[in-house]
Amino acid sequence: MLIAPSFLSCDFSKLGEELVRMDKAKADLIHLDVMDGHFVPNITFGAPVIKWARPYTKLPFDVHLMISEPHRYIKDFADAGADIITFHVECDSDINKTLDLIESYNIKSGLVIKPNTPASAVFPYIDRLYMVLVMTVEPGFGGQSFMADMLPKVAEIKEYAKSIGKEILVEADGGINGETIGACAKAGIDICVSGTGVFKAEDAAKAISELKEIK
Ligand code: DX5
Ligand code: ZN
Repeated sequence: MLIAPSFLSCDFSKLGEELVRMDKAKADLIHLDVMDGHFVPNITFGAPVIKWARPYTKLPFDVHLMISEPHRYIKDFADAGADIITFHVECDSDINKTLDLIESYNIKSGLVIKPNTPASAVFPYIDRLYMVLVMTVEPGFGGQSFMADMLPKVAEIKEYAKSIGKEILVEADGGINGETIGACAKAGIDICVSGTGVFKAEDAAKAISELKEIK
């Protein structure tokens, strides 16, 4: 199980130090939540902030786009240093064209499903994805409660991928902490995003190692 602290919960007045802190705490990736105030009712940051953040760590940047028209901004996020770009299957962009764009920059791609979206929504694209991100809260804000009833989607996704001879990573995002990560591990999740659970912990290294130990 890999742990991806969500940058959204960091102290933005010391963004660089916060990334160095996560690096030292042995995070596996950094999850970056981009929100446009349209696809979700909140605005966070865009490509320029990711570009400023990029020099502070070599950890992969896992960029989660909660924006209505991701295809318009893929180049910006590629230039900013994204390693993985995930966007929502519920967005207004053409999914295959957006995946083409991400691939054209040699960046790993993923599709995200909101709680009310069935796992089957990503099946038509699964052969070309690196990852599927299953939201375990309604996207928009950190610090919400984990929705355990999303977990059966993980097996559905893995089974479908297997049936077409494809290996896929499944990431879960929202409300993951020491109390909820055990269920994620049992469900077969590969990467867990944790914002509040890691950034707001007194000792991030301890929080990450504890999260990884829970089976
Ligand atoms: C929610 C974001 C999450 C969120 C996770 O829209 O996609 O990544 O920041 O934060 P916690 O772990 O606090 O739920
Ligand atoms: Zn996210």
